[in-house]
Amino acid sequence: MVSRIIQVPSFDLVVFGATGDLAQRKIFPALYGRLLAGQMPSNAKVIGIARQDISTNKFRMLVRKSLDVYFQLSSVSDKLINSFLQCFVYVSVDANSDKNWDLVRSELRPDKIRAFYLSVAPELFDKLAAKIFAKGLSTENSRIVVEKPLGSNEKSAKALNGMLRNYFKEGQIYRIDHYLGKETVQNLMALRFSNVLFEPLWNSKFIDHVQITVSEKIGVQGRGAYYNKTGALKDMVQNHIMQLLCLTAMEPPSQFVSDLVRDEKLKVIKSLGTVSELDIVTGQYWENSSENFFRDVGDQNTKVESYVALKVSVNNLRWSGTPFYLRTGKKMRDQVSEIAIIFKEISHSIFDDQKAKARNKLIIRLQPNDGITLKTNIKDPGLGGMRITSVPLDMTFAEALDINRYKVANAYERLIMDVIRGDQTLFMRGDEVEEAWKWIDNISRQISSNQIPDRYASYSSGPESSDLLLDRDGRKWRSIK
Ligand code: BG6
Repeated sequence: MVSRIIQVPSFDLVVFGATGDLAQRKIFPALYGRLLAGQMPSNAKVIGIARQDISTNKFRMLVRKSLDVYFQLSSVSDKLINSFLQCFVYVSVDANSDKNWDLVRSELRPDKIRAFYLSVAPELFDKLAAKIFAKGLSTENSRIVVEKPLGSNEKSAKALNGMLRNYFKEGQIYRIDHYLGKETVQNLMALRFSNVLFEPLWNSKFIDHVQITVSEKIGVQGRGAYYNKTGALKDMVQNHIMQLLCLTAMEPPSQFVSDLVRDEKLKVIKSLGTVSELDIVTGQYWENSSENFFRDVGDQNTKVESYVALKVSVNNLRWSGTPFYLRTGKKMRDQVSEIAIIFKEISHSIFDDQKAKARNKLIIRLQPNDGITLKTNIKDPGLGGMRITSVPLDMTFAEALDINRYKVANAYERLIMDVIRGDQTLFMRGDEVEEAWKWIDNISRQISSNQIPDRYASYSSGPESSDLLLDRDGRKWRSIK
């Protein structure tokens, strides 16, 4: 099956922080991916901006290198790459200085969509947004793109939103959560809202509980200083896991349009119950005295968590009584991102075999091997009486739909094209971000005042206390593998 390309209008994309990690790892490869897909308009222009004083040619070499490393270019013709690189120009600008902003202006074309991508440390958001405004670079047709961390609590998120709204309307602000660009995350909406099968069962009458897991094998990977100020709760739960929770729990919007979808997500966040201290588990990984979380964040006394698990209630008519268990951690046994919907037992089994009572489970797996599996009970084949066994009805899309291509591509391809075409559905609205922080702030306060993180062995399933969180309710985490 071939993906359908919806053409986007030509654009000027101004990337601040163009020599940085995000630009090189994600943004430029994403644009190249769109070129290969035939979606990058031939006269699109990318204006790379950073402090370094380098020429456009040198910058193009950097872009080329980023493609070599992150797009594995071996089979692609030099001609194509060279024409791609011609879209790129570079201007050296320091956010603290007025120098060279006129050069940026002279690169911008009056009739094109303009997108200003702030791929920089959040401390620079304010200065850059103010300069873009003061130098008259933004038009009605402009968008600004920012990415986490979008604040570190409700107060700072409000301040950030207030600052951005001084210069841009909410409809021009694109707050990226790259999880929303993942194929299976959107598939969750398709699954829920375009099949008659699931929606009638999607409530506390039929669903026993929900488990959302994002476990990573990697550690903090050179981001120790950032992570030591952040921790798993703020790094992963406030944003990515919150988005997965919202899409799982939300009511169907009346149409698939940005504000209606975001209204429904906001209602979920507002329905989240206060999490009690007993429903929070934190942990820190430990391999041995030289390989451990403390060393990785460069702080022997850190109380920051590399693992967090929560039992969460969504207090509304649909979900009351169905807990959502959330967990995320670094240096875990395996990389798994999934949403598991665990249905209730059948109310009365007509079979002697206890296995007929095995719960149906719907597993929505984001990575690796994105797909959806429905655990179903069937008759064990062959003679020997009515024996029941549980089998997966496997809807792994990679094979069925030939979406291997999307494994190479990244979520940024979709998100950047959405910015250009002005579709905010897969971006977070300001009120969503603030409300998510408000809920997180309460948990964060409890962690810092009451909790000493438990130690867990590196490459394990997390601290034992997190098993107890479910044991207590007669439930078990799904295994991480
Ligand atoms: C980032 C976090 O937002 O998401 C990282 O800051 C984390 O700590 C990453 O590793 C996970 O993203 P993905 O797409 O690899 O699951």
